[in-house]
Amino acid sequence: MRGVILAGGTGTRLYPLTRMLNKHLLPVGKYPMICYGIDRLRRAGITDILLVVTRQSAGMYADFLGSGADLGVSITYRVQESAGGIAQALEAARDFVPPGERFVVLLGDNLFKDDLAPYVDAYLKQPAGTAKVLLKPVDDPRRYGVPVFDTGDPAWIVRIEEKPEHPGSGYCVTGIYMYDTEVFRLIRQVSPSGRGELEITDVNNLYASARKLSYDVLKDWWSDAGTFDSLREAGEKLKDALP
Ligand code: G1P
Repeated sequence: MRGVILAGGTGTRLYPLTRMLNKHLLPVGKYPMICYGIDRLRRAGITDILLVVTRQSAGMYADFLGSGADLGVSITYRVQESAGGIAQALEAARDFVPPGERFVVLLGDNLFKDDLAPYVDAYLKQPAGTAKVLLKPVDDPRRYGVPVFDTGDPAWIVRIEEKPEHPGSGYCVTGIYMYDTEVFRLIRQVSPSGRGELEITDVNNLYASARKLSYDVLKDWWSDAGTFDSLREAGEKLKDALP
């Protein structure tokens, strides 16, 4: 099992802080944000990690994290040349994952306390060609990808709606995804959305419509630290999370 952390993006909601410094290098507690995702993966036994970064900040990541040895992991870097959406960023991992191998994808601004190991174990028991997402109940689902369930027991995700005006459930699809290399074939099937991006939600919907998308619900605290308020809250919650 490998790990991919997507740490590109422009972080416009955190301007002017992110005009100089990439969002995932901003301080959360005692460490840059990126360290928390690396820590979650390492604790789940995933030490082979690809970091997808922007051209402007690649040097800073390499300077701070190096090979990853200090953190007990091995880091490979890839530069995402343009901001074309999460699914486009994920494309950069295509030759990092050997055929048939599985991997966890984290959006670098998704901070959380759950141990990933049980979710990864459950995913490893799923058939090849399937995927898994992790959900979290949220106060305002309209800001996120929102799963719509059928009435079965257990309920399947029939589709995910990206930032819906009228959410079909009270859950957010967090930026924690599990795939095998089938995902790279599916990314080729999606087209840019209205905002001109290759949406991870469109990729996940290809799995959902084929009933190949499982889910679990995070039990502990989760946030996407994309606003000043959520960044401050994350700093509080995680101030003692790393040594
Ligand atoms: C992205 C995804 C969305 C997901 C969210 C989680 O949104 O598109 O489905 O719920 O991450 O952080 P973005 O933060 O890019 O608007």
